[in-house]
Amino acid sequence: LSALQPKRDLSGKHFIITAGPTVEPIDPVRFLSNHSSGRQGYAIAEALISRGAKVTLVSGPVALPPPAGADLVSVKTAVEMLGAVQNALPADGFISVAAVADWRPSSSSDTKLKLKGENAPAMIELTENPDILKTISHLSDERPELVIGFAAETNDMETHAQGKLARKGCDWIIANDVSGDVMGGLNNKVSLYSTTGVEHSDWADKASIAKWIVDRVADKLT
Ligand code: CTP
Ligand code: CA
Repeated sequence: LSALQPKRDLSGKHFIITAGPTVEPIDPVRFLSNHSSGRQGYAIAEALISRGAKVTLVSGPVALPPPAGADLVSVKTAVEMLGAVQNALPADGFISVAAVADWRPSSSSDTKLKLKGENAPAMIELTENPDILKTISHLSDERPELVIGFAAETNDMETHAQGKLARKGCDWIIANDVSGDVMGGLNNKVSLYSTTGVEHSDWADKASIAKWIVDRVADKLT
């Protein structure tokens, strides 16, 4: 029977995972966000916990129950997400699965904006959000040993993934093709890019993809 139990080979290791979308308020009833369901990040958290790891799951708003045993930190905006990640350090691994909004409204109104009629078309001024993955990758003292980013691409996956690996300073980029129904969907197929090469998974449900990723994380850290 013990052969059926997952190995607890990641016990004593701490991982910080971001998951889901960020939500950037325009006013009390409107926001900028995206279609991320949080499923892939939650599945990775679950797979790590089943191998004995401690997991801090920093999550944007999603409609999923938190994985049993995860330390869940719920956030809304990218700025809050960065703060929560920094707060959860130190860690052995950081896995940046969240679909962080690249921009936020420069200011958000306390009252509902009236943007029709004379004020149309509405102009919303945007400010760039902090890049959480890049910030954590470049920490000097508390950089986790393994820093992993995700890349959601609709085209030229290899070029974009290699570009992000270089630009962000992370150790791996896990790329998925989101031209189909991956974002918000149940299945995924990923490619793991590192400075030493690339490896492709098969199409599978997000739990199997999580296990495929965590097998490689465990190989690297144990
Ligand atoms: N990411 C982040 N903080 C941001 C933007 C992205 O931590 N402000 C992380 C994501 O969690 C992901 C990786 O960076 O792990 C790549 O995100 P992606 O949106 O694919 O890349 P960008 O650099 O934002 O480029 P673009 O959206 O233009 O493709
Ligand atoms: Ca982006």
